[in-house]
Amino acid sequence: MVRIGLLGCGNVGKIIATHQEGFQVVGVFDQLHEHAASLSELTGAKPYSDFNEFITADFDICVEAASIVAVRAYALKIIEHGKDLVILSVGALADDAFREDLISVAKENRKRIHIPSGAIMGLDNLKIGQISHIESILLRTTKSPESLKMNVSTRTLAFKGKAKDCIKLFPKNINVSVAIALASTHEVQVELWADPDVDKNIHEIFVKGEFGELYSKITNLPSPDNPATSYLAALSVLSLLKNINSPLVIGA
Ligand SMILES: NC(=O)c1ccc[n+]([C@@H]2O[C@H](COP(=O)([O-])OP(=O)(O)OC[C@H]3O[C@@H](n4cnc5c(N)ncnc54)[C@H](O)[C@@H]3O)[C@@H](O)[C@H]2O)c1
Repeated sequence: MVRIGLLGCGNVGKIIATHQEGFQVVGVFDQLHEHAASLSELTGAKPYSDFNEFITADFDICVEAASIVAVRAYALKIIEHGKDLVILSVGALADDAFREDLISVAKENRKRIHIPSGAIMGLDNLKIGQISHIESILLRTTKSPESLKMNVSTRTLAFKGKAKDCIKLFPKNINVSVAIALASTHEVQVELWADPDVDKNIHEIFVKGEFGELYSKITNLPSPDNPATSYLAALSVLSLLKNINSPLVIGA
């Protein structure tokens, strides 16, 4: 059984901790101790209020479901303490210097960093961009103004430009753009729309390349406890963990 340490005990953390299949959450850490304590009550995992104690606990994989700030603060230490790492707040890896550092420390320590497909489907296939020419990638994301912390009464373009600039302005809303850029090794253009007529998180992906053309659209139900986070993001972590040591590897 894979032993997990959970960094971040909010909406996704709770879904992960209450659907343990093929893994066991043994330790939980959050900057808000009451969040860690309440997940501990639900699951029996040990709650930690001190990161340095958490990181020396006996688990194999640390699952981050906290924030970009948490990834920046803790990811290197997690790897250096001999844990593999699942990063959901993948926007942290938009910073080239930080990402390269993290990857090089993972190589040195023979550890792996997993990026789940998060709020989209088909992330794995976009890795063809690493071996074949891609002409363009556009991500058009539409969310409710509430989840973008905006107050508009008509459909409004909140951002248009590069993924790495969008994630700086909307660190809780557009992680998928950075995941797509990392998978494809191609720049991603983003349109982020606030639409008062939608109550779901919609991601449309347009890709043109040597392979042909892709259009995909996913209409995600928001998570019960956080409208900015699609429920699918939590499910993607659960399926990653369930399959992490499977001899049958499906997908690119
Ligand atoms: N990759 C994707 O496609 C994708 C999709 C959805 C959400 N996300 C990201 O996943 C993360 C978790 O989402 P959520 O809905 O569970 O968020 P949430 O706000 O409900 O929960 C986050 C929890 O992490 C804790 N936390 C935040 N920063 C911390 C820090 N520096 N140190 C310790 N604890 C910290 C908070 O106190 C909170 O309990 C967010 O960063 C979100 O943007 C990624």
